[in-house]
Amino acid sequence: MSVITEMQDTIDQLIDYRRGILAADESTGTIAKRFADVGIDSTEENRRAYRTLLLSAEGAGDAIAGVILYEETLGQAADDGTPLPELAAARGIIPGIKVDKGKGPLPGAPGDMITYGLDGLAERLETYKAQGARFTKWREVYPITDHNPTRLGLEANAEMLARYAAVCQSVGVVPIVEPEVLIDGDHSMARSATVNEQVWHSVFHALHQHGVLLEYMILKPSMVTPGKSAARATPAQVAELTLQTLRRTVPAAVPGINFLSGGQSPDEATANLNALNQFHDKTPWQLGFSFARALQEPAMSAWRGDPANVPAAQGAFLERARLNCLAMQGEYQASMET
Ligand code: 13P
Repeated sequence: MSVITEMQDTIDQLIDYRRGILAADESTGTIAKRFADVGIDSTEENRRAYRTLLLSAEGAGDAIAGVILYEETLGQAADDGTPLPELAAARGIIPGIKVDKGKGPLPGAPGDMITYGLDGLAERLETYKAQGARFTKWREVYPITDHNPTRLGLEANAEMLARYAAVCQSVGVVPIVEPEVLIDGDHSMARSATVNEQVWHSVFHALHQHGVLLEYMILKPSMVTPGKSAARATPAQVAELTLQTLRRTVPAAVPGINFLSGGQSPDEATANLNALNQFHDKTPWQLGFSFARALQEPAMSAWRGDPANVPAAQGAFLERARLNCLAMQGEYQASMET
């Protein structure tokens, strides 16, 4: 199979108007924080049990088209010995993998960050493919301050995303390109729109320079919202400014935009996604979700590491996923929250 056929096949399954993507790719450090919030020890066994719980939920494949896994999970198995990527695939959920190696400060650009992990990426991808992964994710992070992101920060981060995406496509793996503009701070919505516009513009410029085929990638952006410490915006305001900014910067060739939740509460993220999808006929891309926290928080809180809570946790996960699928149709209402 040619790399193009391989990627087309993956895109055809991932860009599904009825389903979204589950981000379950928290690094060992990040999952430890999420677990600690609800009193769970981050042992390898707990991480395996928790991710098994998500992937084995009966009917998960009705709402989830793909799952982004962490490297550790790719090599783990369910209680009956089924490798977790295989368990996902059997549910109709395509396994993917986070391939970046985390972030640190960007020298020369105080306040900006840069993500590591390009060295040896092509070789690692061959191993991940053999383990069942068909798509990947790489995240660059942009804090907003009065001075950030800097011009250097914008260019360096865009370059990383483009180089990563080009390597993935060269071996037939679909890249999810994730430029996350952080929600931390008290910035206005207008400032968030300005920064996201700069970020998306620079990312698509770099993707073009590196010859990345836009038809075979997915964009995973932040929504345009005010900073976390500023007054909240309505879903209609978020949708309006997010779409205006996306239209200015994201080519129509991109098949799908799957938003991250970035610290929004589960119902806030769903309401905003729903508002974005009120304008279905006016956007060239499918607008879906690739949430981690906003999809998993209710399930993690219900589980708390106790096997007796697995059915309740799976129920909470499936319900959140169902509401987000309704939001992809623009058919979610706040009154559906229990
Ligand atoms: P959140 O939805 O919690 O922002 O996570 C998405 C993600 O994949 C972060 O890299």
